[in-house]
Amino acid sequence: MRLRHLAALALFAPAWAQGLTPVQERGREIYLTGQSAAGREIGAVISAGSDPVPATLLPCAKCHGDDGRGRPEGGVRPADITPAALGRDAWVGARSRPAYTRPLLERAFRMGYDAGRNELDRTMPRFRMTPDDANDLLAYLEILGSDAPRGVSDDAVRINVVGAPGLVATTASIYGRRIELRHGRGADALLTIDATPDGDATLDAAGRDSIPALAVHSARAVPGRYAFVMTATNEDQVAALLSYARGKAYKPVMLTSGCRGIGNISRDALVLMTSQAAANCDPASIPRSLDRRVIVAAPSPPGPEGASTAAQAALSIVANVLAQLGRDLSSHSLLAVLERVHRFQTPGFAPVTWTANRHFGTKSVWLMTLDLQTQRLIGEPGWVEGE
Ligand code: HEC
Repeated sequence: MRLRHLAALALFAPAWAQGLTPVQERGREIYLTGQSAAGREIGAVISAGSDPVPATLLPCAKCHGDDGRGRPEGGVRPADITPAALGRDAWVGARSRPAYTRPLLERAFRMGYDAGRNELDRTMPRFRMTPDDANDLLAYLEILGSDAPRGVSDDAVRINVVGAPGLVATTASIYGRRIELRHGRGADALLTIDATPDGDATLDAAGRDSIPALAVHSARAVPGRYAFVMTATNEDQVAALLSYARGKAYKPVMLTSGCRGIGNISRDALVLMTSQAAANCDPASIPRSLDRRVIVAAPSPPGPEGASTAAQAALSIVANVLAQLGRDLSSHSLLAVLERVHRFQTPGFAPVTWTANRHFGTKSVWLMTLDLQTQRLIGEPGWVEGE
């Protein structure tokens, strides 16, 4: 069967996109990460006669893009390999080739010949994989770029919300689709916003279900492909504290795990505490002489209000991203646009930037001053970004 016929079948998808079949899911994993669901080794041969390297280093998406449309790089343009492009006769560079069929497509990624038996450039690796893995990959290539994300219907976009009961959509609808907030973590949503103090369970689910998640907080060092975190890392806390202390008349003392020995600290100290140090510190052990000279970092303003401001910021980002994507959203374009969010500013929260290499949103940290008279943290100086 010609690929174009398969592409046409996708038009008859049900109103609520049902996500991918297990075979397509496995194929998507190979396409995006070079990893076989069964844990079998997939190899990529880059020059004739050489040993294969693991395909995890050279997954298809790395060159052809998450959506299959090709990412031009270093002068060679990886072909558009969406079903629409492969399903028709075409000129690719200086040569012409007929439309691909399923066996010809398998030959292309295994042996490096196009549908007209022209040898493909060596920048296109030759892949070694089992027939099962090839079947999975082919099943995904047949829908590549058109797999409508879950949670999107003709007239609504569904978004999961965890831990922000008061969250409301300030934009009612985008491109004719209602924004529907649903509390919980179900898999039939475009994405999940998590405002709890520890978003890691949601981030795990995000990886498992391939649904992006925007979590206010995470303790992870690396959030993962589908995981986006609003707040900064522990290192960012240290950087912000140091940047705040610079030029001050007192001697900065950084505490990152607790506050043992704080009773003996020098009289001219400016004590800088990360949120982790503060969590393990008994305020009663801090001498009065340090009044207003203990600065405590937090990833965001503490309390339910801080979390709901961050969740509201996440929702504004989502609305903005949906507005950029227009009506033709795909899960791939969604990830791509999330990774291009740049210094997105909302009231009460620090500017958020995500890139392909960094899924922590802001480098700014909420700094507070400890008032020992009242035993309270004052929200000053507020948001500070390290240098
Ligand atoms: C290192 C970059 C790279 C990777 C990884 C890669 N490709 Fe390619 N691919 C290319 C380039 C470059 C071309 C164009 C070659 C040419 O024009 O001769 C191409 C061409 C193709 C073509 C031929 C398109 C046509 O119109 O004839 C297919 C099919 C293809 N790739 C599929 C895949 C699949 C499937 C994977 C993953 C299993 C993959 N590629 C991984 C770079 C890559």
